[in-house]
Amino acid sequence: MLDLNDYGIKMWDEEKIISFRRTLLAWYDENKRDLPWRRTKNPYHIWVSEIMLQQTQVVTVIPYYTRFLEWFPTISDLAKAPEEKILKAWEGLGYYSRVKNMQKAAQQIEIDFSGQFPSHYQDILKLKGIGPYTAGAIASIAFQEPTPAVDGNVMRVLARLFEVNYDIGDPKNIKIFQAIMTQLIDPVRPGDFNQAFMDLGTDIESAKNPRPDESPIRFFSGAYLHGTMDKYPIKKPKKKPRPIYLEAFIIQNQKGEYLLEKNTQDKLLAGFWSFPILEKEVVETQLDLFETENSKTVDFKSQKENFLEKYPLKITWGNQTFPLVRHVFSHQKWEIDLIEGISSSVSLSSDKVLIWLSEKEFPDYPFATPQKKMWQTYQKIKLEKKS
Ligand code: ADE
Repeated sequence: MLDLNDYGIKMWDEEKIISFRRTLLAWYDENKRDLPWRRTKNPYHIWVSEIMLQQTQVVTVIPYYTRFLEWFPTISDLAKAPEEKILKAWEGLGYYSRVKNMQKAAQQIEIDFSGQFPSHYQDILKLKGIGPYTAGAIASIAFQEPTPAVDGNVMRVLARLFEVNYDIGDPKNIKIFQAIMTQLIDPVRPGDFNQAFMDLGTDIESAKNPRPDESPIRFFSGAYLHGTMDKYPIKKPKKKPRPIYLEAFIIQNQKGEYLLEKNTQDKLLAGFWSFPILEKEVVETQLDLFETENSKTVDFKSQKENFLEKYPLKITWGNQTFPLVRHVFSHQKWEIDLIEGISSSVSLSSDKVLIWLSEKEFPDYPFATPQKKMWQTYQKIKLEKKS
């Protein structure tokens, strides 16, 4: 076990720890948010909520959570579901590897744990897509095991309590915060204790608008008592997402159906359908000389020829222009130009998974947010032209 003294952190004595637990839990009992996954001890339900909540806010998660459990009421239903359906259930939430991993984990539970969700931290950790945070959250909330669940919110609260001089954005420092939490956690109500930290971290002790004078644990907080709230947590700025310039091809056939392609590569958005998209080829860049924040000197070759090489269709291109479609992922920033065309071809022989779809069939297919944005932009211009 890591020694907190080596990191300049002085753990409190037993009396202070006990007083802290009592204070925090009393506050939680009065102020906890009433959330659907707090009305159950079903580990499957808690697992679903914790995976959804990893990168997504509570208000967004609630309707997805409810629908997910309607569609897949048991672990076995999730294990057996077709991939299209699990992607559809996650459509719009992003970070889709989360739900693909959940399905693999559900299959693991069926085989390795006879369909019963494992009840100990070390076993839960064996499941695909479950790391120390999620295993700790499930073990503590569903099974009352005193295991920490340390995410960014919890680290922020702890960094202020103990004036931790280590970057909370650096994964190698998580173990420091886990060691603190292992000593603090309430052995009788570990799930509530962890969730009290989560509630504090997302509201009173949030990153952007903290209200330290309202914190129930302010008189335990080194940063509050020493006037160093501005310094903690220590967090280096994140790298900016890399811009990627793309062109999407909105091709209709003579029947008015649209050409859609399934992303079969095991990468970002694998399994989802979208208009065919190609990365633009840069023709000329003088980035080094002239690029500033506001003025770009990047030019691109038209991708029409490139498209026709990859998608053997006969196409008459349209000349309508569309606003740029933008979508930001955590590490990439997409800027998508739309181009439309009409195809007289019918057959779709190609090494790609292509399909002609009428608009009314769209709801049956999973579409990620960039595709939804492209469709909205396209439709808006078409409607404006009509009226
Ligand atoms: N964020 C992550 N897990 C949570 C939980 N159980 N309750 C509220 N917010 C959370």
